[in-house]
Amino acid sequence: MTDLHVAIIMDGNGRWATAKGQPRNWGHRQGIESVRSVVRAGPGLGIRTLTLYAFSSDNWKRPPAEVSVLMKLLRTYLKTEIDELRKNGVRLKVVGRRDRLSPTLVKAIEHAERQTAQGDRLELRLAVDYSSRDLLLQAVRAAAAASDIDRRDLSALLGEAMNGDGRAPDVDLLIRTGGERRLSDFLLWECAYAELHFTPTMWPDFRGHDLQAALHDFSVRDRRFGEVAAAS
Ligand code: FPP
Repeated sequence: MTDLHVAIIMDGNGRWATAKGQPRNWGHRQGIESVRSVVRAGPGLGIRTLTLYAFSSDNWKRPPAEVSVLMKLLRTYLKTEIDELRKNGVRLKVVGRRDRLSPTLVKAIEHAERQTAQGDRLELRLAVDYSSRDLLLQAVRAAAAASDIDRRDLSALLGEAMNGDGRAPDVDLLIRTGGERRLSDFLLWECAYAELHFTPTMWPDFRGHDLQAALHDFSVRDRRFGEVAAAS
């Protein structure tokens, strides 16, 4: 398996911390170690694109103190990981809205994207202030101005809407940690034929070997894309 696009809904930080008698934010902090672990493991497992759901547009509804910690963690991650990302050939891209982020965070994002632009082993896409429905709406509005557009065109418009590089690559495998089984407004267009993998493991406990296990499960799935199974 090569050139895979894996997307992860990193859920369960809060419950993981609460179960240990700690504040929820402690779970978010520990979640960074899981991010490091999967980013390191990704290229060796055939992953070319890894999209992580770091902050949904609906997450603004959380208590301001928690939102503030999440934003700070993101900024710290972008600052402290650049060297390691560069060393490992990782190109970082932040997808989602930027107009509601603080100017300092936007600067950190742009800096990290510039510094890692040469990475050619893994594209790490962090979804921040991300809503798939909002982006689809934006792409559809742009499409209305054009005539006779096809799926590929809409995909490109979606890639542009998310501040990406004009690409909205199909997801091969979507993983959600934390035991819930829903998509939560994440990559709705791109997941049209994604295989889904739900695990009860809470995000702060998830590591490269869990990603490997999920990919093993994926490798034995029969992906037919609506066709009939090939005759044996
Ligand atoms: C869901 O757990 C997780 C989030 C809303 C944030 C994910 C963020 C991180 C892992 C840290 C920052 C990421 C990067 C890339 C720097 P939850 O709080 O909804 O958990 P719960 O369902 O147990 O309440």
